[in-house]
Amino acid sequence: MVPKHVKLLSFTTVIVIYSTMLIGTYVSKIGAGLACPDWPLCPEITSFGILVEFLHRGVAMLSFILAVTTSLVLSKRGEEELKPARRMALAGLVAITVQVFFVGAQVIFSLLHPLLVTTHMGVALLVFGFYLGTALYLIRLK
Ligand code: HEM
Repeated sequence: MVPKHVKLLSFTTVIVIYSTMLIGTYVSKIGAGLACPDWPLCPEITSFGILVEFLHRGVAMLSFILAVTTSLVLSKRGEEELKPARRMALAGLVAITVQVFFVGAQVIFSLLHPLLVTTHMGVALLVFGFYLGTALYLIRLK
């Protein structure tokens, strides 16, 4: 039996990751990828571009916190039927850790090198896929 709050947590994680991706795409399309001149915080929010770029970083951090929480909650539950969900959440956690603490920063430090922006998108799809898989797996359990 999977408690409702665990299912809700895993879906919230997917929705916040999805929002991070949409905001990231918006950042890219309005050309605000380098709007914030510092890392990890923006010294001052003086333009719409900086605001959106900072929002992307902030929502990314929230995604990371939710991903850690989902993975921890699942790892504390020993049920055999949860094994696939635990594995997917752990794989997603590895991917989002690399994204937030390495690839995201490199996108900026490389001045939006096309290969790094492509890698950033590739890792984002993995993160989204693993947590969507986790949430869909949990929802079909009693
Ligand atoms: C704090 C960490 C992060 C930083 C510093 C960061 C930085 C950026 C920047 C600067 C862009 C704009 C790239 C451009 O102008 O072409 C971007 C786009 C994007 N980001 Fe992030 N990001 C972070 C975390 C994440 C996370 C956790 C995800 C999703 C799991 C994500 C998904 C995306 C996506 C999908 C795009 C759009 C890429 C495109 O349209 O080509 N980002 N990010």
